[in-house]
Amino acid sequence: AAFVAGVTAGAKLIVVSNREPCLHEHVADGIRMVRPASGMVTAIEPIIKAVGGTWVAHGSGTADRLVVDRRGRLGLPPEAPRYTLRRVWLSRKEEEGYYYGLANRALWPLCHTVYTRPYFSRAEWETYRSVNEKFRDAVLEEAEGGAAIVFIQDYHLALLPRLLKDVRPDLKILHFWHIPWPNPEAFRIFPWGEELIDGLLGNDLLGFHIQYHCNNFLDTVDRFIEARVDLEHFRVFRGGRPTWVRPFPISVDASQISRDAEGETVGRRLAGFLKELGEEHGKLSLFVGADRIDYTKGIPERLRGFDLMLQRHPELVGKVCFVQLAAPSRTHVEAYRHLNEQIDALVDEINWRHQTDDWTPVFFLRAHHDYYAVLAAYRMAQAVVVSSLHDGMNLVAKEFVAARNDGDGVLLLSRYTGAARELGDALLINPFDGDGLADAMYRACVMPEAERRERMERLRSQVERNTVYDWGLNVFAELERLLGQEENG
Ligand code: F6P
Repeated sequence: AAFVAGVTAGAKLIVVSNREPCLHEHVADGIRMVRPASGMVTAIEPIIKAVGGTWVAHGSGTADRLVVDRRGRLGLPPEAPRYTLRRVWLSRKEEEGYYYGLANRALWPLCHTVYTRPYFSRAEWETYRSVNEKFRDAVLEEAEGGAAIVFIQDYHLALLPRLLKDVRPDLKILHFWHIPWPNPEAFRIFPWGEELIDGLLGNDLLGFHIQYHCNNFLDTVDRFIEARVDLEHFRVFRGGRPTWVRPFPISVDASQISRDAEGETVGRRLAGFLKELGEEHGKLSLFVGADRIDYTKGIPERLRGFDLMLQRHPELVGKVCFVQLAAPSRTHVEAYRHLNEQIDALVDEINWRHQTDDWTPVFFLRAHHDYYAVLAAYRMAQAVVVSSLHDGMNLVAKEFVAARNDGDGVLLLSRYTGAARELGDALLINPFDGDGLADAMYRACVMPEAERRERMERLRSQVERNTVYDWGLNVFAELERLLGQEENG
């Protein structure tokens, strides 16, 4: 209903995020386009393709403005244009301070509370503020002369809502925070908390994945800033106008994934994997992980769990194998470089301990695997392991389920993901409990087929019930409802 009738009728949609929906990778025969390993891109691209509009993002290519077609290809002009990509250019210094610095060395560990100490620097905070201003200028240009709904993504752009609202109070601004929001005790160490929260209170609607993060946010506002927190209606009044705070559990395009998983490209990627692992390994019971190499994802924890399972069940030697698809990420940040080194040492250690002449227990495939390769890996898995120490939602879990048209496969899912609230038929794990993780992995190896299928059937119907389109509809319908309600007093 949004954009067609009611308060938002005729408004243009402007999505704003740091990450743009495609990466350019230099390969032997030119440039390859890869969809970034990003839950945010996975979720937002189908929505903007369906609705149309402009996506403003930090640019990595060369053109200022591009049209994106139905298949997500960039070009001028492609067939069946779907939306426009408007790029914001950042200098190396800006990228360093705003993206690697404030966003990923301060806010990322602060919000995930996973025992990686956040790093705060005033210079980076100032760069973060000036980059948010740069995004404001781009959005204002795109919104010139008409009504617009600005849909902001994530923690890179926390100041943008206030910056926009101050100059264009008529804009309808909504913001989805794709990562957790910590409790006030964890948040209180952030040196610029008041300004950050004030920035977010420029939104009309602020969404998190789950109610728990909404509650944490409202508690934080209550402690940090002068504002009226209305816990009955989940809204905050600051300067006389409200910001509503709501949970919207994000999801995936289940039927598209399901169709793509059957396609020829996935078939080719599957063959590619079998070649890479060796035919013999391809026939084993495969555990699969697919993540950015990030310390929130619990990659060392799952590898240790696998190691422990092999130590306890030597009968599994030569019968199982762990294949980890691992996309390099944020490697300019020290904590990520350390993690890479730690994982390399661990993989070496585990392989050294258990390997035989013709069997390797762990394959750690460090690369940006494309969407089809990830689907192929899901298809070959006996079990997919999502062992995040803390995660806003985690779409790997949902993508895996959507890709398993054969109705088989086991999902091991961390209790500390937003997804665990919906996917109770997974084997829920505590990644901090190595013994428990090893037990759950063993259970996945020996689970009778009937139980695997029953669980997968329930998981699939859950993912089909709440797709990313339901998510998008809920977000925009709620915006429409709340703004309508406000207009009518
Ligand atoms: O969803 C959280 C998030 O940080 C997204 O904003 C981001 O696109 C994704 O994870 C991957 O991170 P990055 O864009 O830093 O590669």
